[in-house]
Amino acid sequence: MKIDVSIGSITEFQGDVIVVNLFEGVKQPGGGTGAVDQALGGMISDELENGQVFKGSVGDTFLFPTYGKLPARYVLLLGLGKPEEMKNRQLRRASAAAIRACKKLKAKRVGMLLNGAGIGQVNAEIAARLLAEGALMGAYEFTLRKSQKEGPDEEPLGPIESVTIVEHDAGKQTAIESGIRVGTVIANATNMARDLVNDTANYVTPTFMAETAQKISGSVSCKVLDQPEMEKLGMRTFLSVARGSVEPPKLIHLSYKPSGTPKRKVALVGKGITFDSGGLSLKPSTGMDWMKIDMTGAAVVVAVMKAISELNGLDIQVDAFAPCCENMPSGHANRPGDVIVSMKGKTIEINNTDAEGRLILADALTYAQQETDPDEIIDLATLTGACVVALGKEASGIMGIDDGLIDGIRSAGEAAGERYWPLPLYDEYKDFLKCDVADMTNSGNKGQAGSSAGGMFLKEFIDEGRKWVHLDIAGPAYTDKDVPEVPKGGTGVGVRTLLYYLYGWNDIQ
Ligand code: BES
Ligand code: ZN
Ligand code: ZN
Repeated sequence: MKIDVSIGSITEFQGDVIVVNLFEGVKQPGGGTGAVDQALGGMISDELENGQVFKGSVGDTFLFPTYGKLPARYVLLLGLGKPEEMKNRQLRRASAAAIRACKKLKAKRVGMLLNGAGIGQVNAEIAARLLAEGALMGAYEFTLRKSQKEGPDEEPLGPIESVTIVEHDAGKQTAIESGIRVGTVIANATNMARDLVNDTANYVTPTFMAETAQKISGSVSCKVLDQPEMEKLGMRTFLSVARGSVEPPKLIHLSYKPSGTPKRKVALVGKGITFDSGGLSLKPSTGMDWMKIDMTGAAVVVAVMKAISELNGLDIQVDAFAPCCENMPSGHANRPGDVIVSMKGKTIEINNTDAEGRLILADALTYAQQETDPDEIIDLATLTGACVVALGKEASGIMGIDDGLIDGIRSAGEAAGERYWPLPLYDEYKDFLKCDVADMTNSGNKGQAGSSAGGMFLKEFIDEGRKWVHLDIAGPAYTDKDVPEVPKGGTGVGVRTLLYYLYGWNDIQ
């Protein structure tokens, strides 16, 4: 689906559907919506005056056939909610809802007004960026493994070919174009992560993850470490998890360096368990089928690097590390009670082989710090079921040792439409790691502060004084709810937050 801009009147748009918009409570439409109302002989204002259905809340839609009064066959009226409540989240959602409605109409060419521009801090560029983000994220469907491509109503759905923002003010064209360009990159990266998460573990193996990363070109370079290299580096905790599977492990390192001296260096580390069976501490079969999503962190950091390679001019050095392997039970798998010496030299008793994420991250975090000496290190992991219990699907847990970094990520997340809620790393929780036979255990105290226990474990592998934040994305990584901009399945959570954070786009929230 291509998004572009055309200067002119929406009433003249040649296509299948035009989308016009209104705030909640407005009875007399103005601007482009007013012009369409006039062309339709007052159909929209009549509905607003006498109708019972269209309320104008965010993403509310109402369809008018044009019966030849306009070149387009349909007009879709889109609700933007209350103007005082209109923020990034609402604008993305409205555009996503409109695109979904157009898809149901089997539209090929859609014309759309620039939702929300000029209200509050929303300028044309931001409005276009949010429209592109919402439209492309809302149009997303995972159909790769269906032999017949069908929509939710079992009807074959052709993709929408183009969405054209129709703007009367030629002076806004450049700003709109730049917003579309950035929004498209952000949404495509999100959808790329969604594809990797939604596709199944028999296709998305560590090798496939590495091949995907290697395809990223331009200003981003890629290095993939194989088992022999990792053995040489002493990544024994990572390899101990990988050993249970026939799939060879891969450690992906993607690197972006700005042309001048970097303002700072940021390392991203994403958990890449392509399937988590639990290992010998086998998970119950209920819910195990979802564990293809346990590589979300890795998918997210790879997708972020793809976006960075497509957007110009980031003045920060960014390195992404994705340790990828399967967690399977076998004759080679970790036994509960085994002790492994990590790359950092700490010994770990593996009481529970299902707490594997922290094991692969321990060595990846050590390697990331050794390789790039980053000013900031951000890890993303579907680390604990406890985080899903605590926060559900609405927020990821955020833990760290630097309030500035935590605030920066939370604020970028708010602007990006993704929520992070702080969980503590109290010194007292160090007791969770206490172990009789080794320096530490991997499994915490059953039933107590499980997400913080995971965070405390990872903290042991962060160098003194290094800014670090851990995002436990286990809840929002996938959803069985369907909201306009986040369809069922893998969500790609974190892609937008990281891009907003790195590029500093938290201007409006
Ligand atoms: N991948 C899981 C965490 C998870 C659970 C992600 C549900 C998404 C949804 C992780 O590897 C795991 O199994 N963690 C254990 C840790 C425990 C054994 C200390 C858990 O949460 O039960
Ligand atoms: Zn696990
Ligand atoms: Zn896991």
